[in-house]
Amino acid sequence: MSERSWDVAWQEALYGPDGFYRQPAGPAAHFATSAQGLPGVGRILARAVATLCRQYALSSIVEIGAGRGELLATLHEVDPALSLHGIDVVRRPPGLPGAVAWSTSPGGAALPDDLGALDGVLVLAHEWLDVVPLTVGEVDEDGSLRVVHVTETGQEHLGAPLGEADLQWCQRFWPAGEPGDRVEVGATRDRAWADLCARVRQGVVVGVDYGHERTDRPAFGTLTGYREGAQVQPVPDGSCDITAHVAVDSLDTSWRTRQRALLTELGVVARPAQHEMSRTDPGRYLAALAERSAGLSATAAQGLGDFWWFVREIGVRRQPSTSTS
Ligand SMILES: C[S@@+](CC[C@H](N)C(=O)[O-])C[C@H]1O[C@@H](n2cnc3c(N)ncnc32)[C@H](O)[C@@H]1O
Repeated sequence: MSERSWDVAWQEALYGPDGFYRQPAGPAAHFATSAQGLPGVGRILARAVATLCRQYALSSIVEIGAGRGELLATLHEVDPALSLHGIDVVRRPPGLPGAVAWSTSPGGAALPDDLGALDGVLVLAHEWLDVVPLTVGEVDEDGSLRVVHVTETGQEHLGAPLGEADLQWCQRFWPAGEPGDRVEVGATRDRAWADLCARVRQGVVVGVDYGHERTDRPAFGTLTGYREGAQVQPVPDGSCDITAHVAVDSLDTSWRTRQRALLTELGVVARPAQHEMSRTDPGRYLAALAERSAGLSATAAQGLGDFWWFVREIGVRRQPSTSTS
């Protein structure tokens, strides 16, 4: 059975002609993100992004990896004056508000050729880098780091030793220890992120993803799959998503923080509902409870609150007092 290194098999499985992300159902059919599928959380996310955009005195947002435009539609509701543009590997999704522009991208680390010289924009990449394929390495019995190969049915074998550039990345960011330990070499994501940032002349690039730092790398990696709502073994045959957490500290950024801290600082997490309102205005009380509950989901420890927000500022400064709410 033919086998290829994980990065090659992964790229084909997600972005090839019949790739997972080209299928009509879209990501929401297979897994929930903050942007879609979690009641009330999309609105909190949209308010956070809109507030951050206004704090940088910007009024345009370009979203890379926009799925089927779910977050952009919510952003349009939250702040209709924002100019919005979504980019993903599929054609313009049906039902997207007419005011939202759309364009198509190759997928993975590759971005549209004509995306460039962006001026006065916030570029958002919400759960994009985790689906940018990377090299997976494993320490063999002699202590050498070797490239992990995979068949179409998901069986793995060790291939050649890691190349020099990937080895250097590992030495710096993810030193591997014992036989059987795995590394997910973030170099392709570092380059994809740098490429995205290089397309902005003035503005801010905001990435949001689950990730780790050198002090808490998972010894066996995080490579996994999702299909129809369930976490599954990652199999590169186009039938499931394939994802791995992002090494956030190897990216060239201006600052990074956890989602729970940023959403709280941006003032988009509702306070507890006042119980007295349950008698005076039960409808509003229920709405306040739902909003509070979504806020708790978006900031939960061991959950969405652990997401990293990593930001590269390009010729702009943030004025944290500005708020859209
Ligand atoms: C995990 S989904 C996240 C979708 C959406 N941002 C959300 O949070 O619900 C990743 C998305 O990134 C898209 N994607 C991957 N590489 C891309 C690229 N180079 N350009 C544009 N979109 C890309 C995929 O097609 C997919 O829709």
